[in-house]
Amino acid sequence: MVGSNPNSTAVVGLQWGDEGKGKLVDRLAGEHDATVRFNGGANAGHSVVVGGKRYALHLMPSGVLAPGGLGVIGNGVVVDPAALISEIDGLSAQGVDTSRLVVSDRAHVVLPYHKIEDELREAFLSGGAIGTTKRGIGPAYADKVQRAAGVRMGDLVRPDVLREKITLACRIKNVAIKEMGERAGVETTALDPEAITSEGLAWGERLAPMIDDTVYLLNAMIEDGKRLLFEGANATLLDVDHGTYPFVTSSNSSALGISAGTGVPARAIGRVIGVMKSYSTRVGSGPMPTELLDVTGDTIRDRGNEYGTTTGRPRRVGWLDLVAARYTAMINGVDEIALTLLDVLSGFDELRVCTAYETPDGRTDRFLPDGWRLVEATPVYESVPGFGEDLTGCRSMDELPGEARAYVERIESYVGVPVRSIGVGPDREQTIDAPGVAI
Ligand code: IMP
Repeated sequence: MVGSNPNSTAVVGLQWGDEGKGKLVDRLAGEHDATVRFNGGANAGHSVVVGGKRYALHLMPSGVLAPGGLGVIGNGVVVDPAALISEIDGLSAQGVDTSRLVVSDRAHVVLPYHKIEDELREAFLSGGAIGTTKRGIGPAYADKVQRAAGVRMGDLVRPDVLREKITLACRIKNVAIKEMGERAGVETTALDPEAITSEGLAWGERLAPMIDDTVYLLNAMIEDGKRLLFEGANATLLDVDHGTYPFVTSSNSSALGISAGTGVPARAIGRVIGVMKSYSTRVGSGPMPTELLDVTGDTIRDRGNEYGTTTGRPRRVGWLDLVAARYTAMINGVDEIALTLLDVLSGFDELRVCTAYETPDGRTDRFLPDGWRLVEATPVYESVPGFGEDLTGCRSMDELPGEARAYVERIESYVGVPVRSIGVGPDREQTIDAPGVAI
């Protein structure tokens, strides 16, 4: 029986993604025996520096970059095998040992028709679109939940099962794709189940050595007292159950998804670190109460280089929403906050943080985890003095200007969780750890 495992750590985003989880996971990976992805797919973007070269990872757990560490893709992930193979090849070409990757036989496969469906649905919905990454995430999870035609990684090495499932999927999808294409004015061609099956079998041949039952693997590691690092993709406000639905992704992208997405008991999760930017960003559609559509927003976007790793889209930018942060810290059971990009806020006379919302039902300090309710909320701001100094050279709390420390302290007092590290630049060294904390 697996008991609690104080050695395991979870890293999750507390906002709408892109909080800088990658940098923290890179710092932590070396101290863990495996880095485990539990949700999402190639919609996630994670920039890592390998041998002085920046590499954008989408599916690969960053643990494979740490010497000796295992990278595990859990059952809750949807895997685009073509994207995974291209990441493996790219990393191998840079001298990274990618043989320490294990992929769950139960992880669902993103097939070419999922990307076609994602694109067509977005075109068909036009004004009502989610603004997805078009990586086929929603349609792949939909097939998983719809059951009959959902293809799992283990099926890629079972030709008869694979052919049957893909043939069934194509029968259903050809009807929908033709109809949606005609209505959206997009030209489509009929899916060929044989061609898709052959492609799937080729992926299976290539990935077979990495496909395994990761549930037994992870539980055995926990029993042996090994340290696991659960790496959240996307972020809590995009969680399908607890985010700003329907403007969310299709998985449980908070720490709540770890257990279902890996097959380890919830009590095996030791410490939960919530990563949060010093301001807010969002990509895609959906409400964002503190969004700045003015020159302040443009300045933060440029200074923070707020352009998507996966799609290159400019990110929407806004003041820090503490109402949202307190909610996401609560549902994740966050033990500590890793605050990122504080340096980006230098140079403003005044900073603002949102501490409540005005809504048609009155003022509230509760988050509204429903897109259509949140859209009616307007932020109530508290003004905080800004700081002029450049923070990129600061390496300790004492070196931070008083106003920057006060900003951090306001976050701690409102959210009720200590800030244990502060990012002041993109490099690993540009991080301030609270005294006595080993991150
Ligand atoms: P999907 O996950 O591609 O279906 O996209 C659904 C929504 O989640 C869109 O608004 C995307 O922009 C957003 N999204 C998905 N993954 C990420 C991420 O890793 N960072 C930021 N936004 C994301």
